[in-house]
Amino acid sequence: MTSTEIRSKFFEFFEGKGHKIVASAPIVNKNDPTLMFTNAGMNQFKDFFLGNATPDNPRIADSQKCLRVSGKHNDLEEVGIDSYHHTMFEMLGNWSIGDYFKEEAIAWAWELLTEVYGLPKDRLYVSVFEGDQADGLEPDEEAASIWKKYVPSDRVLYFDRKDNFWEMGETGPCGPCSEIHIDLRPDADRIGDSGKELVNADHPLVVEIWNLVFIQFNRKADGSLQTLPAKHIDTGMGFERLCMAIQGKQSNYDTDVFSPFVSELEKLTGKKYEGSYDLDARKDIAFRVLVDHVRAVSFCIADGQLPSNTGAGYVIRRILRRAVRYYYSFLDTSQPLIYKLIPSLAKYFQEVFPELSQQQDFVAKIVLEEEKSFLRTLEQGLKRLSQVKISDGVLAGDVAFELYDTYGFPIDLTRLISQEKGWTIDEAGFQSCLADQKKRSRKDAESQTGDWVPVHESDNAEFLGYDYDSLEAVKIIKYRTKTNKGKETVQLVLDKTPFYAESGGQVGDVGLLKTSTGTAIKVLDTQKENDLVIHQVNEIPADPSVAFNAEINAGRRRKIENNHSATHLLHAALRSVLGDHVAQKGSLVNDKYLRFDFSHFEKMTDEQVAEVERIVNEKVRENIPLGEARNVPIDQAKDSGAMMLFGEKYGEHVRMITFDKSYSVELCGGCHVNHTGQIGLFKIKSEGAVASGVRRIEALTGQVAYDYVNGIINEHKAIKLMLKSPKNVSQSVQQLLDEQKSLNKKLSAFKAEKASSLKSGLLSQAEKIKDLDVVIAELHDMEIADAKGLAYAIDQSLDKTALLFLIINGDKINLLCLINKDIVSDHLHAGTIIKQLSKHIQGGGGGQAFFATAGGKDNSKVAEVVEEFKAYLGK
Ligand code: SER
Repeated sequence: MTSTEIRSKFFEFFEGKGHKIVASAPIVNKNDPTLMFTNAGMNQFKDFFLGNATPDNPRIADSQKCLRVSGKHNDLEEVGIDSYHHTMFEMLGNWSIGDYFKEEAIAWAWELLTEVYGLPKDRLYVSVFEGDQADGLEPDEEAASIWKKYVPSDRVLYFDRKDNFWEMGETGPCGPCSEIHIDLRPDADRIGDSGKELVNADHPLVVEIWNLVFIQFNRKADGSLQTLPAKHIDTGMGFERLCMAIQGKQSNYDTDVFSPFVSELEKLTGKKYEGSYDLDARKDIAFRVLVDHVRAVSFCIADGQLPSNTGAGYVIRRILRRAVRYYYSFLDTSQPLIYKLIPSLAKYFQEVFPELSQQQDFVAKIVLEEEKSFLRTLEQGLKRLSQVKISDGVLAGDVAFELYDTYGFPIDLTRLISQEKGWTIDEAGFQSCLADQKKRSRKDAESQTGDWVPVHESDNAEFLGYDYDSLEAVKIIKYRTKTNKGKETVQLVLDKTPFYAESGGQVGDVGLLKTSTGTAIKVLDTQKENDLVIHQVNEIPADPSVAFNAEINAGRRRKIENNHSATHLLHAALRSVLGDHVAQKGSLVNDKYLRFDFSHFEKMTDEQVAEVERIVNEKVRENIPLGEARNVPIDQAKDSGAMMLFGEKYGEHVRMITFDKSYSVELCGGCHVNHTGQIGLFKIKSEGAVASGVRRIEALTGQVAYDYVNGIINEHKAIKLMLKSPKNVSQSVQQLLDEQKSLNKKLSAFKAEKASSLKSGLLSQAEKIKDLDVVIAELHDMEIADAKGLAYAIDQSLDKTALLFLIINGDKINLLCLINKDIVSDHLHAGTIIKQLSKHIQGGGGGQAFFATAGGKDNSKVAEVVEEFKAYLGK
């Protein structure tokens, strides 16, 4: 069976058991502050498990793109070293939301593996939870007895909490689990050895393939378990490992999920992959790292996350850099390579994850630029390394850390280079720098969220803010405290709310919660956590159980709506002017401006910018009414050609926002104007690059745009006034510039002439003191730089120059002394002379032996200065 067939069979099987097959959620998580990336198939269903939301169909199945490189589940350093860990992997899963439980989950898992996929029963082991005293949990005998219907009891193994109690993160849904492991060792190795001891023992050929989690609890922030109102099934099967088992391979990399890419890399690099897992076989590790990492990086970018220096973007950057380091060090490649694999990768995933093939050029371009820039950094790091001072053959720990931190050199690369040069590294010094950095970043990230305190029983808040700016009789369902860097805030969930929670680029609402007695609590921000709308306030209300009037700051919201609707009009205009390749890559909509990032490969011309602006304003003047359709089935929305964004999670029902169905139709949860005329005026402030292949437009609407334009007009008026109100301002500015240019030219010529006549005049007055050619002159209204030029020119025409200029500009005086370079001595030293003379001018200065200057405030002692200079030369 090919991997594609294996995947399809999974979907068919669960469809046959009444499951709805859904799309993978984006790999980058947007609305869950506890999780940067999707790390398990169940993430997108978290709110179903917690009872915060209800699915259309309680049975669901899918293949989910997962990434485990940060947080609780982190496999990054294993990847490439062993045969079965990955950064991005596919998790095949089936879910029951309060529907079937252990009996069916186990029966179906067994049926699929042994009957559909035909895996040999005698190679399978299952594990169950042995219980945990601290959590007050009994062994899972129920699961064990169900399993015994299918497998001999000596193949049902008990494990503790570490292996058989699954948790999504520090908090959240969890429960005991039951895993299916497969023993893939060759028959010869299995004789007389049951394989049982190898389960959960990190044996590369005895691996877990499927985890069935019986979700029954919510782990709270205080560490305790709260029993959930319903019981759920959450299963996850490692697709790549399943393929290894079914295809009879000994490594995930030998299955058709990876092998075509390994072959392609062989062609691209001219190196041969030998499939060794020896730790010294760095070339083979490099192959595996590359074919693995290209997937994670490509899909994160396709799902809307660009590499960057913070958060999720930084994780992606680190993965990509790890891959570059491996090919640079072990495949002798110093040219970008990863991006070349993207077309075949897109093709392989075309059916199941089409988002990559749809943005193939864009993703490849981002990866290419990122590779190029890191390769440059690597080269600089190598240069730095070649210049460092080495004492006693030891590379200092802070230098190793600088290479790691600034140039992205992992310590083993620095070690390798050092070995070649015969150095060792101060490892302890490096580790201590690293520990300091970790301490710093932990401090930065310090944030603690308390448990929810229930106030009123109610379903989750309904967002009513599309229709209302304020609501009466609003109740708090629950609240909790959050401490961030020592500052405590309170988060509230309401039973209904007019407050929009930040999402889709639109900022959260602010406003007030008022009680009947007139006390008011300020809502400072509104955020989303999965499906929860969280209102941020400063303190717990005196009596949280009373009813409130909830009202948003409506004026602010109207401005936000202007900017949001203008963003839709802009998006459509960009596509019509630049082409259909334009896709939204990021957006910010607040009450001050809008920022829109989109894929496009070159700078927009001024004409294009003007045309886009013209179209948007035309649409504003058409005063198009808002077309808002809530609860549209997703397929219907797709059929109507609505614009969908990559990396966005869409439910079964979506909201469709239309401004003239032949112009702009987008799926959007945000807030909009009723008629485009409300936008008033649309003005683009800037167009620029954010990353290669991504452009950014910042624009203004309504009063803000009007004020901006007026500001420019007023400035123009002021300029016109200064120019004495000419008919054509730019023409007259041009005239001024031309005039200035020609005056400057004349001035330079004049200066040159003056300098030359000054020079000949001064030369003719040169006198001899001892054998020195002495020139002394008082100069007025002359730039110091010009005087210096004159002094140098005089020196050219004399032999033993000893020159002193007294340059007087208004009240200020400057002295300049030059002694011919060939005659300077301790006595004839311009710096010394100038220091001595400057006492007469109330100032100071100095310089070199042949040239020095001083500046001062007293210009009444010119004669004394001259006298002393002459006397000094005469000594
Ligand atoms: N959530 C479980 C896991 O990730 C099963 O899907 O292993």
